[in-house]
Formats: sequence, C-alpha cells, structure tokens
Amino acid sequence: MKPEEIRHHIDTPLFRTISKAASDYGVSAFIVGGYVRDLILDRESKDIDIVVDGSGIDFAHFLSERLQGTKVNYFKNFGTAMFRHNDIEYELVGARKESYKRDSRKPIVEDGTLEEDRERRDFTINALSISLDEKAFGEVIDPFGGIQHITEKLLVTPLEPAITYSDDPLRMMRAIRFASQLGFRIEDRSFEAIKSQKDRIKIVSQERITDELNKIILSDKPSVGFKLLNTTGILELIFPKFTQLQGVEVRKGIGHKDNFYHTLKVLDNVADRSNDLWLRWAAILHDIAKPDTKQFDKKSGWTFHGHEDLGAKLTPGIFRGLKLPMDQKMKFVQKLVRLHLRPISLSKKEVSDSGIRRLLFDAGEDLDSLMILCESDITSKNEVKVKKFLGNFQRVRLKCKEVEESDKIKNWQPPIGGEEIMNTFGLKPGREVGIIKTAIREAILEGEIKNEYEAAKGLMMQKAQELGLREPNNI
Ligand code: CTP
Repeated sequence: MKPEEIRHHIDTPLFRTISKAASDYGVSAFIVGGYVRDLILDRESKDIDIVVDGSGIDFAHFLSERLQGTKVNYFKNFGTAMFRHNDIEYELVGARKESYKRDSRKPIVEDGTLEEDRERRDFTINALSISLDEKAFGEVIDPFGGIQHITEKLLVTPLEPAITYSDDPLRMMRAIRFASQLGFRIEDRSFEAIKSQKDRIKIVSQERITDELNKIILSDKPSVGFKLLNTTGILELIFPKFTQLQGVEVRKGIGHKDNFYHTLKVLDNVADRSNDLWLRWAAILHDIAKPDTKQFDKKSGWTFHGHEDLGAKLTPGIFRGLKLPMDQKMKFVQKLVRLHLRPISLSKKEVSDSGIRRLLFDAGEDLDSLMILCESDITSKNEVKVKKFLGNFQRVRLKCKEVEESDKIKNWQPPIGGEEIMNTFGLKPGREVGIIKTAIREAILEGEIKNEYEAAKGLMMQKAQELGLREPNNI
C-alpha cells in the first residue's frame, strides 16, 4: 500500500474513537511498529501497537469508557493495556526508552519522548508511525527513511548498529528473521555488528531465541535465515549440533555430501510443500546424527548406518535444550526422523505388501507427512534421477493406499495385546510379554498368520510354550 493511501485505510470508527479520546485526554497517539511496516508491505497483521506520550494505562482507562462492550486488560508491571476488536489485538503503551543492562536479561524501561521511542526501535522499517492526532490523522512519520528502506528491501538500524544490538541482542536474530521472512538484505554495517556482538545472544532467554528461530523456520525459504545464522556465528552458539553437519571429508578420493547444505535444501523443499512447523523441524533433524555415525569403509565408501535411530534418540534432548514442546509434537518429529529411510528402502525393491503394512503400522496417521519428508529428501541436481525417485515414491504412495483400503492398518491394534498376555500367564509387564506381543504383530504384518483373534491366540500359546510359560490354572 502506498503511504498516501494509509489515511483512507485507517479511517475506521475505532481509530477515530481513539483519536478523539486522545485529543480530549490531551495526549498524542500513534500507530507504531510492525503494523505500519506490514501495511506498506501489504502483509496481514493481527496486532496493532499504539503509543501515547504519557501513561498508556491511564489513557487506556479513559478510552475504555468509550469502547462500550470491549474488555480492556491492564498489565501494570509492563505499563501496557490490551483489548481485542474484530479479531485484532490492540496494545496501548506510553512512549519509552528501553535499554538492557550488559549482563541482564531484564530490560530497564523508562518513560521517554516520542522521538526517543522511535529511535530505540530495532529497524528503520519498524520505526514508522501513523499519527492519530485529529489534525494530522493518517500522516506517516518516517524519521529514519524506513519507507525508502522498504523499497530497497534493506534492514537498517535507526542508531549506530552496535548500540541498537547491544540494547537488545535478540535483535540480531530479528534482523536475520526479517531477512528470511521478507527477503530483505541486512545492511553491511549491521551485519558486521552482528558478527562482532554475537556472543551477547547468551543473555537472551531461550524462549525468545526459539521463538525467532521458529519464525525463521516458518519463512518461505528458511535456508536464507539459517545461512545468515551460520555466517554470523550465531548458529554455533544457539544450535551447535546443527553446525556439526557442515563439511565434506574426502578419503581415497571419495567424499560425502555436505550434510548441512543438504539439510537446508531438504528444509526448503519441505517448506515448498507444507507450512507445518513440526514437519519442518523433522527436516532439520532428519540427518542430525550423521556426524556421530559416519564411517569409512574401503568397499562401500562413506556410511551413516543407524543415523535414523540415533537421530530419533537425540531428538528429545535437542527439543529440551531449545525449550521446544516435549509433547506429541516432539514425538511426531522423533517418529519422522526414525522412519525417514523406510519409504526409500521400500521404493528400491519390488514393493512387498508386508513392507507396506509395516510402514502403515509404524507411520499411522503421519504417513503423508513422512512421504513429504522423503520426497523433499531428494536433493540431487540430476533431473532424470529426481524424476525416477519421485516416481518410485509415487508407487509407494499408491501401494500404501491400496493396502490400507484392504487391511486398515493405520489405526490397527493386533487382536491380542499385552493385557491379555499378562492375564493369561499371570505375568507382570516385562520381557516375555514384549516378545509375545511383537511376535503376534510381526506375524500378522508379514502375512504369516491371519489378522484374527483365534490365529493370534494360537501363536501366543506357541510362543509361550517356547518361553516355558504355562497358564496359571494349568499348573
Ligand atoms: N521492537 C524492537 N526490538 C525488539 C522487539 C520489538 O525495537 N527486540 C519494536 C519494533 O519497533 C517492532 C515493535 O517493537 O516493530 C513490535 O514488536 P513485535 O510485535 O515483537 O514485532 P513486529 O515488528 O510487530 O513483527 P512480528 O509481528 O512479525 O513479530
């Protein structure tokens, strides 16, 4: 949207009410920050920040009387007030200057003038504001050339970069996030400042870091952000395990691919196919254990045997360290990491029903996500090869559909479970129960016995005998 169209765009009853209230209360009010940037960029945004030159809370109390039926929440500790209107969140705050103590995570916030409020912001494109003063309603204030920088797609700090980043080191990640999300370039001086101040990221809380990391991952081409994180040295500090994927070793003239750049390509490929953050995390972690499992063998060259299992084992620790959720989302990522080679091995040989049943059983509801990951894992530059592999996966997909339609494996449970095995033989949970359970499941998936109660029971009795177990009432 052109800046001259903004006045018309914000001429709504709500903004007019805020404008009139500010005038009656004797303060100046401005729409600031990301909302203004996104208006000019024609991006949707769901929250609107409003700054007044005075107490945001006091003005919010005054305004609330004119917003009949709208509940206003007050956060005294932060000096902010919030309300929702038509699914958009409005935040009111007094103008402030804010700065971080060198080694503290807690910012010191002081009241400031409107000018100070603008220059303490992170980037010129985020320091734009729109006046809600009655006389200047809708006028765009652009003290640092933010509009020009939007046209040039450039991230520039309003003050000396060293000062802006030192005030809040998270801004180093925000710079990279905006570069990745908006396709902007970080101005050279800023880039140099990030490189030299990178260690200050350590004073930022893990939650804020991970929040930005996730936004990078959710951008259209996440590799842009990761490459910047890597070249600035920040990645090494926040996610060292990932940087270990880098590098190519050559022995006897045989090299392996650089797993860092391969992973980034896989991530971009997944991003082209899905907006699911957790599927994208599975792409990031799918080869994470390759450095730990790497071996060179004269016959087969480089191998990474078991990297999928070790990768799955490492997943919870990585999630915990990054303060990512430890719930079903982690389990989903872990499952995809563990299974990411399965469709490949199936697509190589003649696809057997039993292999497909096993895949359906293990992947369950996440089969589609797994197939997206596998298709994205094809990063060859050879188009003929790519076409062939994609065709193979298409066959696996089709076969999965056929087998699922006839056997309904995805949500399937074997006809005899652990409970029944324990009751029959008077066992407590333990090794024997596991052996019998697995034997029944495997035999059905392999097609050796029918998926029926009687057949399963027969096998249970046979296995129990082999293990020397007897039914308690037969003793
Ligand atoms: N801001 C800042 N430094 C930060 C965080 C925020 O200067 N570390 C300022 C910027 O002016 C920013 C505004 O506060 O535009 C609002 O911040 P926030 O809502 O976190 O980000 P947005 O810029 O709105 O972007 P997004 O909504 O995409 O996170």
